[in-house]
Amino acid sequence: MRIGIVGLGYVGLPIAVEFAEAGHDVVGVDIDQKRVSTLARGESYIEDVAPDRLAAVSQRLLVSRRYADLAQCDAVIVAVPTPLTRNREPDLGPLVSSGQALASVLQKGQLVVLESTTYPGTTRERLAPLLEESGLAAGRDFNLAFSPERIDPGRTDFTLRNTPKVVGGLTERCLERAVALYSEVCDEIVPVGTPEVAELTKLLENIFRSVNIALVNELAMLCDRMKIDVWEVVDAAATKPYGFMSFKPGPGMGGHCLPVDPFYLAWRAREFGQPTEFVELAGEVNQAMPYFCEEKIAHALNDQEKPVKGSRIAIIGVSYKPGVGDMRESPSIKIMRLLADRGAELVYHDDYVSDLPDLGLRSEPLESALEGADAVAILTAHPGLDVQAVVDSAPLVVDFRGVTRGIEAPNLVRL
Ligand SMILES: NC(=O)c1ccc[n+]([C@@H]2O[C@H](COP(=O)([O-])OP(=O)(O)OC[C@H]3O[C@@H](n4cnc5c(N)ncnc54)[C@H](O)[C@@H]3O)[C@@H](O)[C@H]2O)c1
Repeated sequence: MRIGIVGLGYVGLPIAVEFAEAGHDVVGVDIDQKRVSTLARGESYIEDVAPDRLAAVSQRLLVSRRYADLAQCDAVIVAVPTPLTRNREPDLGPLVSSGQALASVLQKGQLVVLESTTYPGTTRERLAPLLEESGLAAGRDFNLAFSPERIDPGRTDFTLRNTPKVVGGLTERCLERAVALYSEVCDEIVPVGTPEVAELTKLLENIFRSVNIALVNELAMLCDRMKIDVWEVVDAAATKPYGFMSFKPGPGMGGHCLPVDPFYLAWRAREFGQPTEFVELAGEVNQAMPYFCEEKIAHALNDQEKPVKGSRIAIIGVSYKPGVGDMRESPSIKIMRLLADRGAELVYHDDYVSDLPDLGLRSEPLESALEGADAVAILTAHPGLDVQAVVDSAPLVVDFRGVTRGIEAPNLVRL
């Protein structure tokens, strides 16, 4: 087959490489010239796609900015961003412009699958009409389906291959074709009745995580007052062999998905007069965490008779999770801004994030970041971080990830 992928980001690029590795010809289209040029040089900007994997499929992977290159494809997968507007409402801008551009090259018999996370109804009510501007009818002249992406960047135990793939088609034939497409790269396909079911399945998965993270974060704030170790509580509860799933507290929720996707449903639900209070409440609790973290750092400094103003604070790990350099919605930025507003002198160390232009900072080697620091805050612990060395060399360490569990030291404060 010849497969087109629109949007070569965290989702699109790994899919493109998987299909190429499965022996198919792949055309990847992205509007970002820098990304296209980087890939054309054989370099990768996504941690999960190593350059040697790119090199191995270079003969089968064409990367382009031109939608016209998609005209010969049997199937086109759309994986463009679905962010929020400033008012925290769905921003379908990239989806609409990619749909319009695709309509101009759409061919009879093609299959289009949307993978971008979005509210139920998007595929049928927004994407189908855009594609039908081509003069072709969805479900008759071309096939259309939705299949949510479940990728977890940085993860190696569950991949596109061994993670079941949910697929919902506009018609029976649409579903059949989408199932056949993904069977090439996924071991198990989960067909569902409609695109709406597939769209809402993804939102349920993410809202489930968001709500449970909020629950454990709220508990962490309570434990802080009650002087109970929240990590010990979570670990102990996790020994129950059924009916409990462990979620860890932290400095707040980051990444493109969890802080964003639930609000797609909240927005859509308003149209139906049905409030989604769990979604809103989880968002509120998780968004409060950076403020709590800043207070906790300030209290810890205070206990050492130091003010935040003028203190040198070293931040360890700024991306939203370990093992990736993704800064989208990372709570670290908020915490750093709050500390800077109080007059702290900030430095940071993160091997995955070389600079933070908005804060005017560059990542420093661990040793120089720790040098002269009044306090160190561990916001993200990337693999290989020598936690003991951090605790040994700083006058004060505030750990928001629970990675210092098992270490007892007077200069150590944990969430
Ligand atoms: N990152 C994740 O872990 C993850 C997981 C599951 C689902 N998703 C969802 O997948 C979708 C894509 O997310 P992502 O993380 O890959 O985003 P990304 O920002 O990493 O990549 C999106 C790519 O699309 C390109 N693009 C934007 N507009 C375009 C257009 N009109 N035409 C062609 N290319 C265009 C961008 O230049 C970018 O390279 C989102 O809906 C997201 O919610 C992401």
